[in-house]
Amino acid sequence: MFYQVSNLFTFAPMNQDDLFKKVIAHAKEYGFIFPSSEIYDGMAAIYDYGQNGAELKKNIRDYWWKAMVQMHENIVGIDAAIFMHPTTWKASGHVDAFNDPLIDNKDSKKRYRADVLLEDYAEKLRQKADKEISKAAKRFGESFDEQMYRETNPRVKGYLEEANATLQRMAQSLDKGDLEDVKALIEEKGIADPVSGSKNWTEVRQFNLMFGTRMGSVAEGSSEVYLRPETAQGIFVNFLNVQKTGRMKVPFGIAQTGKAFRNEIVARQFIFRMREFEQMEMQFFVRPGEEMKWYEYWKEQRLKWHKALGLDEKYYRFHDHEKLAHYANAAADIEFDFPFGFKELEGIHSRTDYDLKRHEEYSGKKLQYFDPEIDESYVPYVVETSIGLDRMFLAILSAAYKEEKLDDGSERTVLQIPPALAPVKVAVLPLLKKDGLPEIAREILADLQMDFPCQYDEKDAIGKRYRRHDAIGTPLCITVDHDTKNDQSVTVRFRDSMQQQRLPIKELAGLLRKDLEMSTLLQKLK
Ligand code: GAP
Repeated sequence: MFYQVSNLFTFAPMNQDDLFKKVIAHAKEYGFIFPSSEIYDGMAAIYDYGQNGAELKKNIRDYWWKAMVQMHENIVGIDAAIFMHPTTWKASGHVDAFNDPLIDNKDSKKRYRADVLLEDYAEKLRQKADKEISKAAKRFGESFDEQMYRETNPRVKGYLEEANATLQRMAQSLDKGDLEDVKALIEEKGIADPVSGSKNWTEVRQFNLMFGTRMGSVAEGSSEVYLRPETAQGIFVNFLNVQKTGRMKVPFGIAQTGKAFRNEIVARQFIFRMREFEQMEMQFFVRPGEEMKWYEYWKEQRLKWHKALGLDEKYYRFHDHEKLAHYANAAADIEFDFPFGFKELEGIHSRTDYDLKRHEEYSGKKLQYFDPEIDESYVPYVVETSIGLDRMFLAILSAAYKEEKLDDGSERTVLQIPPALAPVKVAVLPLLKKDGLPEIAREILADLQMDFPCQYDEKDAIGKRYRRHDAIGTPLCITVDHDTKNDQSVTVRFRDSMQQQRLPIKELAGLLRKDLEMSTLLQKLK
C-alpha cells in the first residue's frame, strides 16, 4: 500500500557559486570531507575523507573496478607500489617535461599558472559570446539560427576569434618553450591578478610537479625517489609480468586504482585539484594499427559508465584535444559540468607505443608481445582511460545536492546520490524507543547488515531522523511501528519521492537487492 505524503516539492533555484559553497560546507558537516590536519589549520589542496566520504569513495572505486575488471574477461587488475625506480620517471618523460609554467605577481606575492590565467581569460570571452547569443535567442524566438549568429554577428565573432587566437598563441609558445612570449601575451591582454588586480608580473618559469624525497640513510648514500604522479607507469613496467603470468592475449587491459601526487600550484576548487589524489586507470594493449578502433570503443564505453549512474545527460560532454601530447595520436576528455563550469573529469588517450618503447630503451629489456595470430612480435600500442576518483566524487556530490521546498512550507536538503553508491543504504528506525519496537528494529538490522551498510537510529522525532538520512543520501528508511507487531510489516520511505510503502519484513531483502545493489548498475552496462 502507498501512503502519499505532502511530497509535492519545488527545487529552489541556486546560483552556481552558492551551490559550490554549500556543497563544501555540507561535505564537512555530514562527515564526507574534512580539511586535512584541520586542528593545525589544514593544508592547501589536501583533504581527508570522513565516515560517509570514505564509503562513497569506496563505492565509486568498486563501481569502476567491477565495470572494468570483473565485467571484462580480458582486463585484470594490479596494485603496484607508489615508489618506483627513479629511472621510470626519466623514461616516462616526467623528470624533463612534467612542468607547469608559473608566474608570480610582484605586488600580491601570489603564484599562478600562466596557462590557467590565459585559459580563464579565453573562457571569459567565450562566456561573453554565450551571453550575447542567449540574449539574441530570446529576442528572435523560434526563428533564431544560433550557428549563423555565431558566424555573422561581429561582436560574437570578435569574442570567439580573440579567445581562439589567445589559446593558439599560448599553445605555440609553450610548445617552443618561449616563456617570454607567454608573459608578453599576459601583458598584452591586460590580465590582472584575480586577487589584487595588479598587473605587475614576474617572468614565467617552468616548475616540475613531482614530489621528490630521499630513500635510504644518508650514511649509505641515499638516492632521490619520487612519489608517483600517475598510476599508469606501474602498469607499463609490469606489462610483461602480467601478460606472461596471466597468459593474456592482445587486446587486453591492465587496471589499477591508487594514490598519485602532484605539487599543484593552483590549489583551489576543493577536491577538484589536489596534491594527493587517487586515480583509476586502465591501459589497454592493442595491435599497432588497431588503436583508433579501440580508442573509439573506450570513449563510448566510458561515457556509458558515467551515464548509467542516471545523472542528467546535460552534465557530460566530450572535449577532443586538438593539441596532442608528443606521445599521443588521439585524446579526448569527458568533461563534467561542475558548479564552476565544464572541466575534465576523465581522459581517454591513444598513447601509441611511446611508453613501452621508452621503458625498453631505458631498461635495456624487451617489452614485446608475440602475436600467434599473425606470427609476429611487436611493442603493443596503448589506449588509456584515466579518471580521478576524487573528481568523480565531487561530480556525484555536486549533482546530488538539492535543496527542496516542500508543500507544507518546510525545507529539506537531500543528497540524491545514485542508490548503489550511497554510503548508507538503509536506516532502520523504531518509531518509539519503547514497547518492544527497538528490539524488532535491531532484529531487522541484524538481518540486513550482512548484505548492506545500514544504520540504526532511535533518537529524535521520526521526521528529524528522515531529514538526517536525506542529508547523507540514504535511499531507504525502514520504520518499525506498533502495527509491525501484528502484521510483521514495516513502512519503507523512499528518499527522492518521499513516498511511503507498507511492506512485509520478509520482502525487504528482495526490495533492497533490486534497488540498491551494484549489480543493478552494472546491468545497465551490458
Ligand atoms: N595517466 C594519464 C594521466 O595521469 P591526467 O590527465 O594528468 O592523465 C588523469 O590525469 C585524471 O586524473 C584527470 O582526468 C583527473 O580526473 C585526475 N587528476 C589529475 N590531476 C589531479 C589533481 N591534481 N587532483 C585531482 N584529480 C586529478
